[in-house]
Amino acid sequence: MPTKTKTPTTQYVCSECGYTAPKWLGKCPDCGNFNTMQEELVRTVEQTPTRTGVSQMKAKAQPISKIGYEKFDRVKSGIEEFDTVLGGGIVRGSLVLLGGDPGIGKSTLLTQVSAHLAKTCKVLYVSAEESCSQVKMRCERLGLHSDDLYLLNETCLEDIETELVDNQFVIIDSVQAIYTETLSSSAGSVGQVRECASKLMRIAKSRNITFFIIGHVTKEGSLAGPKVLEHIMDTVLYFEGQPEDNFRLLRAVKNRFGSAQEVGVFEMTDEGIQSVTDYSALFLSDTRGISAGSAVTPSESGNRCMSVEIQTLITKTAYGMPRRMSLGVDYNKLVVLIAVLEKRCGIPFFNADVYVNAMGGIKLSEPSVDLAICSALASASSDVPIDKYTAIFGEVGLTGEIRPVSYADKRVNECIKTGFKRVILPTKNMKTCKKYEDKIELVPIQYVGQMVQILGLKPRN
Ligand SMILES: Nc1ncnc2c1ncn2[C@@H]1O[C@H](COP(=O)(O)OP(=O)(O)O)[C@@H](O)[C@H]1O
Ligand SMILES: [Mg+2]
Repeated sequence: MPTKTKTPTTQYVCSECGYTAPKWLGKCPDCGNFNTMQEELVRTVEQTPTRTGVSQMKAKAQPISKIGYEKFDRVKSGIEEFDTVLGGGIVRGSLVLLGGDPGIGKSTLLTQVSAHLAKTCKVLYVSAEESCSQVKMRCERLGLHSDDLYLLNETCLEDIETELVDNQFVIIDSVQAIYTETLSSSAGSVGQVRECASKLMRIAKSRNITFFIIGHVTKEGSLAGPKVLEHIMDTVLYFEGQPEDNFRLLRAVKNRFGSAQEVGVFEMTDEGIQSVTDYSALFLSDTRGISAGSAVTPSESGNRCMSVEIQTLITKTAYGMPRRMSLGVDYNKLVVLIAVLEKRCGIPFFNADVYVNAMGGIKLSEPSVDLAICSALASASSDVPIDKYTAIFGEVGLTGEIRPVSYADKRVNECIKTGFKRVILPTKNMKTCKKYEDKIELVPIQYVGQMVQILGLKPRN
């Protein structure tokens, strides 16, 4: 009689070429890449998920006119900006991933949301990283009194599943800390994170539970970041900001139930995370217009336009090589703009250290901030402050020409709302902005040199 051999339940698959091996290998024998073999579950026919519930019948194609509208049942989270980013509230049965650097405030935000939801619904907060008493202490520190919030300190996904009785909302903190027994690799590995997320998706869809999943954005390689599970999620949110700053931006990068362009602005206070509705003056300093080296630009982030101040500092180089440092602005962009100013406007930077910072820890990646960076640099170099009621936007080309940018009218409108009296903008954008002429002074320019002239930023000799 032949002896029964145990079939292996997992295999290792190369993420680059798809080569499979029964054991882990440091180098893929097929494509030769290192560290690409990841553990995956081998599913036999019996193990393949079967059709459940509504989808038990075979689907039939039908004309678009026969298809009715689906109404999403939305629940308010208690935090206005959070609802806005989600597209108007939390959709039941959806999977929401909240990614962000460690310590940015993901647990704090979702503790507040879960405490609010627990007033009317059954909510379970699965804390795989902290003990239940730590979560309780956080609730008390934030002044959240919610006796009906359930806490669970568990890392095994199968055990978490048995605890879900009739919960409508479940928070998993964090996906890197939980594991499924079906894989032997450690919690946080790519295989584990992916398998846990797809299991959670099956639970969410079959039992109509809304899951909020926290994922740490980590340095590539050692731990699996939220990037590997974006395709499984309904909504992917990223929480951004400098840990030492109080302001946080919540950005939707994917949303099946709303716009993926939304951005929410929050402030981290002693009472927890609060929505900021008057964000227009958040990224501006009080010394604007007094100190040289600062310029304001209306920046389009998501569906919102915000006035952001760019500050620069120029000092004499003490060593042979001049230093350039940028925070919130791309380093290469800074180097290019310095070269343009040097060549096209004759402002010398070869013996100067240049430091640039975008206020409030915001990241400015659009080309429209170029001109404001140039103005701030020219202002710092000439030691002449830019008038506090002037805003600047436009893309700067290598020849020194000012190129048009998108959403010009929206930017001008934002400047009017924030109380600016003059806007320096690309000439080619004037057509769409003409309608605001009676509300704000529009100064169209074609070359970067014109900006230096208009603002009176003559370089020191
Ligand atoms: N006991 C505490 N007292 C005061 N502030 C705290 C305390 N614990 C955490 N914080 C603040 O809350 C921030 C966010 O923490 P947390 O929500 O746990 O971040 P994450 O879950 O994203 O890692 C921390 O960076 C810290 O500034
Ligand atoms: Mg946390």
